[in-house]
Amino acid sequence: MKIIIVGAGYVGLVSSACFAELGHSVDIIDVDEDKIKIINSGKSPIFEKDLDELLAKHIHKNLNTITNYEKIAYADIIFVCIGTPPCHDGKADLSMIENASKSIGKALHNNNKYQVIAIKSTVPPGSTENLITQKVLECSVKNPINIGFVMNPEFLREGMAITDFINPDRIVIGCQDEKAAYVAESAYQGIDAPIFRTNIRTAEMIKYVSNAFLATKISFSNEIGNICKKMNIDVYDVMQGVGMDHRIGMQFLNAGAGFGGSCFPKDIAALICLAEDLYENPILLKSVSMVNKQQPLRIVELLEKRIGDLQGKRISILGLAFKANTDDIRESQSIPLIFDLMRKGADVVAYDPKAMDMMRNLIPSIQYCENLEEALEMSDACVIMTEWDEFKQLNKEFDVMKSKVIIEGRKILSIDDAEGICW
Ligand code: UDX
Repeated sequence: MKIIIVGAGYVGLVSSACFAELGHSVDIIDVDEDKIKIINSGKSPIFEKDLDELLAKHIHKNLNTITNYEKIAYADIIFVCIGTPPCHDGKADLSMIENASKSIGKALHNNNKYQVIAIKSTVPPGSTENLITQKVLECSVKNPINIGFVMNPEFLREGMAITDFINPDRIVIGCQDEKAAYVAESAYQGIDAPIFRTNIRTAEMIKYVSNAFLATKISFSNEIGNICKKMNIDVYDVMQGVGMDHRIGMQFLNAGAGFGGSCFPKDIAALICLAEDLYENPILLKSVSMVNKQQPLRIVELLEKRIGDLQGKRISILGLAFKANTDDIRESQSIPLIFDLMRKGADVVAYDPKAMDMMRNLIPSIQYCENLEEALEMSDACVIMTEWDEFKQLNKEFDVMKSKVIIEGRKILSIDDAEGICW
């Protein structure tokens, strides 16, 4: 199939490389010429496991880049992978996707070729029908009977995105007509996964609800962890016993510093706005978000309990990325932690194997260390914030600290003198 991907962000890039791997002819459009240059050199502008290899394998063969929309006229299916970042009030900002819809509409030719526009971006229910479809059709000379619309949400985890694309739990196809669904499903031929077909609004909601449910599991575990800690019970043992119930499951029960990333916080905020616009008060979703906001501040409380006033104390932060195996710091729980420590006058030093450049752009005023040893040297306390493999075996390395106060925001160490945030 001839596939066009609009947007070379995480989702667009991974989808392009994976559709190329499935044997399709893929063109990826992005307005950012610097990003396109990097992709053309066979490299990924983002750090994602195995993506460099896949791009290098297919670039200039069945995967090509473009900076304008002209080739859209010849595509069988156009996947829209444009970001929908949060506005200041938490609502999803649809302005970029609106502009892309207009550009796609303008680029469609008045021919008899049936073409499908598939939305992968996370958009509030109703957006595909009320905004995207409308803008495409308004700007297009093509007969609407030759344009199909599909909502095909993605469930890719950063760091695991290629594996998740090739081995998904399900492929959700929201559509109005059989023909559009057939074209979208054909793009996934070769992938062994159940297909869940539904209407467009339901598919849009499935994405928000999946993320909200996973985030709820995490905040639930964190709240239980906070209670367990006061009772001297290990929440990890509790959740293991709980998760063995197949109705609950083991996944996403790891208590700790809470969730970050480009999806969970933003999607929960958007779902809360959506509910409030409908005069609903989503108290559970608000609590999920509130528990998550409090977790990093609990670390500060714990530090104060252990070492007293933080003014002038040297605190080492190990891990800045919102989770391991990515350089992404978006909504990382390390950010509010660092700001709170700075507010209290602490001398913050940080180390992360991948995410230091990103954090340096956001918070230039703390000290960034080349390695773990430098970060731990003479420090009054250290906090583990990301579950990087290289932190797992740490033991003797802590001996260079002034006082061996080790707080785990993620449970990864196997030494006795570490104290967990909620275990
Ligand atoms: C998430 C969804 O999993 C994915 O389906 C969606 O498409 C995008 O959002 P991602 O943001 O890449 O993916 O990360 P994920 O692995 O889900 O972790 C999110 C956050 O939750 C991380 O900060 C992680 O550290 C935290 N987490 C995860 C926990 O605190 N405890 C857990 O048990 C699991």
